[in-house]
Amino acid sequence: MRNIVLTGFMGTGKTETAKILSRKLGIALIDADAEIEKDQQMTITEIFQRLGEVVFRDMESSVIKRLSELNNIVLATGGGVVLRKENMDLLRKNGIIVCLTASPETILRRTGPSKNRPLLQARDPLQQIKDLFEFRMPFYEQADIIIDTDNLSPLQVAEEVIKAVRSKQ
Ligand code: S3P
Repeated sequence: MRNIVLTGFMGTGKTETAKILSRKLGIALIDADAEIEKDQQMTITEIFQRLGEVVFRDMESSVIKRLSELNNIVLATGGGVVLRKENMDLLRKNGIIVCLTASPETILRRTGPSKNRPLLQARDPLQQIKDLFEFRMPFYEQADIIIDTDNLSPLQVAEEVIKAVRSKQ
Protein backbone atom coordinates (compact mmCIF):
# COMPACT_ATOMS: atom_id res chain seq x y z
CA MET A 1 0.00 0.00 0.00
CA ARG A 2 1.13 3.56 -0.67
CA ASN A 3 1.96 5.63 2.38
CA ILE A 4 -0.77 7.85 3.77
CA VAL A 5 0.75 11.27 4.33
CA LEU A 6 -1.22 13.63 6.53
CA THR A 7 -0.61 17.32 5.91
CA GLY A 8 -2.47 20.41 7.07
CA PHE A 9 -2.29 23.42 9.31
CA MET A 10 -1.46 23.12 13.02
CA GLY A 11 -4.50 22.00 15.01
CA THR A 12 -6.26 20.20 12.19
CA GLY A 13 -5.84 16.88 14.01
CA LYS A 14 -3.07 15.21 12.00
CA THR A 15 -1.46 13.44 14.95
CA GLU A 16 -4.71 12.13 16.47
CA THR A 17 -6.04 11.05 13.09
CA ALA A 18 -2.77 9.34 12.22
CA LYS A 19 -2.92 7.30 15.44
CA ILE A 20 -6.42 6.07 14.62
CA LEU A 21 -5.50 5.31 11.01
CA SER A 22 -2.49 3.33 12.12
CA ARG A 23 -4.63 1.27 14.50
CA LYS A 24 -7.49 0.72 12.06
CA LEU A 25 -5.29 -0.16 9.09
CA GLY A 26 -2.69 -2.09 11.09
CA ILE A 27 0.22 -0.11 9.67
CA ALA A 28 3.03 1.77 11.40
CA LEU A 29 2.66 5.40 12.38
CA ILE A 30 5.54 7.83 12.11
CA ASP A 31 5.34 11.44 13.24
CA ALA A 32 7.87 13.64 11.44
CA ASP A 33 8.09 16.22 14.26
CA ALA A 34 8.69 13.47 16.83
CA GLU A 35 11.50 12.13 14.60
CA ILE A 36 13.11 15.59 14.48
CA GLU A 37 12.89 15.88 18.28
CA LYS A 38 14.41 12.42 18.68
CA ASP A 39 17.26 13.17 16.25
CA GLN A 40 18.05 16.52 17.82
CA GLN A 41 17.31 15.65 21.45
CA MET A 42 15.41 18.96 21.64
CA THR A 43 11.76 19.92 21.49
CA ILE A 44 10.45 21.76 18.41
CA THR A 45 10.11 24.89 20.57
CA GLU A 46 13.76 24.65 21.64
CA ILE A 47 14.89 24.20 18.04
CA PHE A 48 12.97 27.32 16.96
CA GLN A 49 14.28 29.33 19.93
CA ARG A 50 17.92 28.27 19.73
CA LEU A 51 18.43 27.74 16.02
CA GLY A 52 15.57 29.46 14.19
CA GLU A 53 12.98 28.44 11.64
CA VAL A 54 15.30 28.02 8.65
CA VAL A 55 17.44 25.48 10.51
CA PHE A 56 14.27 23.70 11.61
CA ARG A 57 13.08 23.55 7.96
CA ASP A 58 16.39 21.99 6.91
CA MET A 59 16.05 19.38 9.65
CA GLU A 60 12.48 18.74 8.56
CA SER A 61 13.56 18.24 4.94
CA SER A 62 16.24 15.75 5.89
CA VAL A 63 13.79 13.76 8.03
CA ILE A 64 11.27 13.78 5.17
CA LYS A 65 13.94 12.52 2.81
CA ARG A 66 14.64 9.58 5.10
CA LEU A 67 10.99 8.78 5.83
CA SER A 68 9.96 8.99 2.19
CA GLU A 69 12.02 5.84 1.56
CA LEU A 70 9.63 3.83 3.76
CA ASN A 71 6.53 2.00 2.58
CA ASN A 72 3.19 1.12 4.10
CA ILE A 73 3.17 3.76 6.83
CA VAL A 74 0.94 6.55 8.06
CA LEU A 75 3.06 9.68 8.23
CA ALA A 76 1.95 12.70 10.23
CA THR A 77 3.85 15.77 9.07
CA GLY A 78 4.33 19.22 10.59
CA GLY A 79 2.09 21.98 9.25
CA GLY A 80 4.89 23.67 7.30
CA VAL A 81 6.13 20.62 5.40
CA VAL A 82 4.16 21.67 2.31
CA LEU A 83 6.21 24.86 1.95
CA ARG A 84 9.14 23.12 0.28
CA LYS A 85 8.49 21.53 -3.08
CA GLU A 86 11.35 19.06 -2.55
CA ASN A 87 9.49 17.64 0.49
CA MET A 88 6.27 17.19 -1.42
CA ASP A 89 7.96 15.67 -4.49
CA LEU A 90 9.57 13.03 -2.26
CA LEU A 91 6.38 12.31 -0.30
CA ARG A 92 4.32 11.97 -3.47
CA LYS A 93 6.57 9.28 -4.95
CA ASN A 94 5.07 6.51 -2.85
CA GLY A 95 2.41 8.33 -0.88
CA ILE A 96 -1.07 9.69 -1.18
CA ILE A 97 -1.22 13.22 0.21
CA VAL A 98 -4.15 13.96 2.49
CA CYS A 99 -4.70 17.48 3.77
CA LEU A 100 -6.83 18.12 6.86
CA THR A 101 -8.36 21.58 7.11
CA ALA A 102 -10.36 23.54 9.68
CA SER A 103 -11.51 27.12 10.11
CA PRO A 104 -9.13 29.56 11.85
CA GLU A 105 -11.54 29.71 14.81
CA THR A 106 -11.47 25.92 15.22
CA ILE A 107 -7.68 25.93 14.91
CA LEU A 108 -7.42 28.57 17.62
CA ARG A 109 -9.71 26.57 19.89
CA ARG A 110 -7.69 23.40 19.36
CA THR A 111 -4.24 24.97 19.68
CA GLY A 112 -5.15 27.75 22.14
CA PRO A 113 -3.74 26.62 25.47
CA SER A 114 -0.67 24.94 23.98
CA LYS A 115 2.71 26.65 24.25
CA ASN A 116 4.46 24.17 22.00
CA ARG A 117 3.71 25.87 18.70
CA PRO A 118 6.30 28.59 18.28
CA LEU A 119 4.64 30.06 15.18
CA LEU A 120 1.43 30.76 17.09
CA GLN A 121 3.00 32.60 20.03
CA ALA A 122 1.74 35.94 18.70
CA ARG A 123 -0.04 38.86 20.32
CA ASP A 124 -3.12 38.12 18.21
CA PRO A 125 -3.05 34.36 17.56
CA LEU A 126 -6.29 34.34 15.55
CA GLN A 127 -4.93 36.94 13.13
CA GLN A 128 -1.65 35.04 12.97
CA ILE A 129 -3.52 31.85 12.08
CA LYS A 130 -5.53 33.68 9.39
CA ASP A 131 -2.41 35.25 7.85
CA LEU A 132 -0.37 32.04 7.84
CA PHE A 133 -3.34 30.07 6.55
CA GLU A 134 -3.95 32.45 3.67
CA PHE A 135 -0.30 32.32 2.65
CA ARG A 136 -0.20 28.53 2.84
CA MET A 137 -3.55 27.78 1.22
CA PRO A 138 -2.11 27.28 -2.31
CA PHE A 139 0.34 24.75 -0.89
CA TYR A 140 -2.25 22.80 1.09
CA GLU A 141 -4.58 22.76 -1.91
CA GLN A 142 -2.18 20.59 -3.88
CA ALA A 143 -3.10 17.52 -1.80
CA ASP A 144 -4.75 14.50 -3.45
CA ILE A 145 -7.51 14.48 -0.83
CA ILE A 146 -8.77 17.39 1.31
CA ILE A 147 -10.93 16.78 4.38
CA ASP A 148 -12.65 19.51 6.37
CA THR A 149 -12.42 18.48 10.03
CA ASP A 150 -14.47 21.31 11.56
CA ASN A 151 -17.45 19.20 12.57
CA LEU A 152 -15.82 15.79 12.77
CA SER A 153 -14.23 13.84 15.60
CA PRO A 154 -10.76 12.37 14.96
CA LEU A 155 -12.42 8.97 14.52
CA GLN A 156 -14.79 10.36 11.89
CA VAL A 157 -11.88 12.09 10.15
CA ALA A 158 -9.97 8.80 10.06
CA GLU A 159 -13.01 7.04 8.57
CA GLU A 160 -13.28 9.74 5.88
CA VAL A 161 -9.59 9.37 5.09
CA ILE A 162 -9.93 5.59 4.69
CA LYS A 163 -12.95 5.98 2.39
CA ALA A 164 -11.22 8.61 0.27
CA VAL A 165 -7.93 6.70 0.05
CA ARG A 166 -9.74 3.50 -1.01
CA SER A 167 -11.66 5.35 -3.71
CA LYS A 168 -8.36 6.58 -5.17
CA GLN A 169 -6.72 3.14 -5.35
C1 S3P B 1 4.70 24.03 12.10
C2 S3P B 1 3.86 23.06 12.62
C3 S3P B 1 4.24 22.21 13.75
C4 S3P B 1 5.77 22.07 13.85
C5 S3P B 1 6.40 23.42 13.86
C6 S3P B 1 6.08 24.25 12.62
C7 S3P B 1 4.21 24.87 10.98
O1 S3P B 1 3.63 20.91 13.61
O2 S3P B 1 6.25 21.32 12.76
O3 S3P B 1 5.97 24.08 15.02
O4 S3P B 1 5.04 25.55 10.35
O5 S3P B 1 3.00 24.85 10.69
P1 S3P B 1 2.05 20.63 13.82
O6 S3P B 1 1.38 20.99 12.54
O7 S3P B 1 1.99 19.17 14.10
O8 S3P B 1 1.61 21.48 14.97
